Amino acid sequence: MNKKGFIFDLDGVIVDTAKYHFLAWKKLANDLGIDFTEHQNEQLKGVSRVKSLEKILDWGGVSVSEEEFLQLMDKKNRDYLSYIDTMTEDEILVDVPKVLNLLKSGDQGIALGSASKNARTILKKVHLFETFHTIVDGTNVTKAKPDPEVFLIAAKQLDLEPEHCIVFEDSIAGIQAANAANMISIGIGEESVLSEADFVFKDFSEISESFVAQLINKQHSTI
Ligand code: BG6
Ligand code: MG
Repeated sequence: MNKKGFIFDLDGVIVDTAKYHFLAWKKLANDLGIDFTEHQNEQLKGVSRVKSLEKILDWGGVSVSEEEFLQLMDKKNRDYLSYIDTMTEDEILVDVPKVLNLLKSGDQGIALGSASKNARTILKKVHLFETFHTIVDGTNVTKAKPDPEVFLIAAKQLDLEPEHCIVFEDSIAGIQAANAANMISIGIGEESVLSEADFVFKDFSEISESFVAQLINKQHSTI
């Protein structure tokens, strides 16, 4: 039997939490007198909480003490979690359950590979926590995407070779991490942004049952 590991990013792939990150960062930035646009938010996709705050302060030309930095990160996260608290299964992105069910019935490895330290909370909110055989998130890694660490740990925990794993990602850094891990990279989003991916789909509604079967049955080099 063919067994592959399917590793999903969370934010922007399974759920659209980017809008909540945006609202929370915007409030924090504006309170500091810093402008924050949706375009800037794009540049924070896949980027860790620490790096995101560094970038925002840098854009605003604001410097803070180490203690204030930690307080700001905490403030942003508390605000973000107040949005997460209202989340339901309705916020799972289109046809994600369809693909997860196909993989489950095909007895495939299913993992989460996210930079978020809130990943477990979010998965529980949308009732997907039990779907994943393993969860690797921001609490389990030392190196951020585009470093492949998060995906390599997921492969190891699934007991599969990296070349037998497939990654779904919406960020450039995540696609680069998947490529560096020698995994098949599938971009979810705009072709123009995710051009380094092996395949790009606008969303999961474009991913057919036969494409999933192809991923399960073929070797990395022959897809
Ligand atoms: C990534 C998001 O998945 O997680 C980033 O794309 C976010 O926008 C990062 O900054 C860290 O998330 P959290 O939930 O730990 O602040
Ligand atoms: Mg993402």
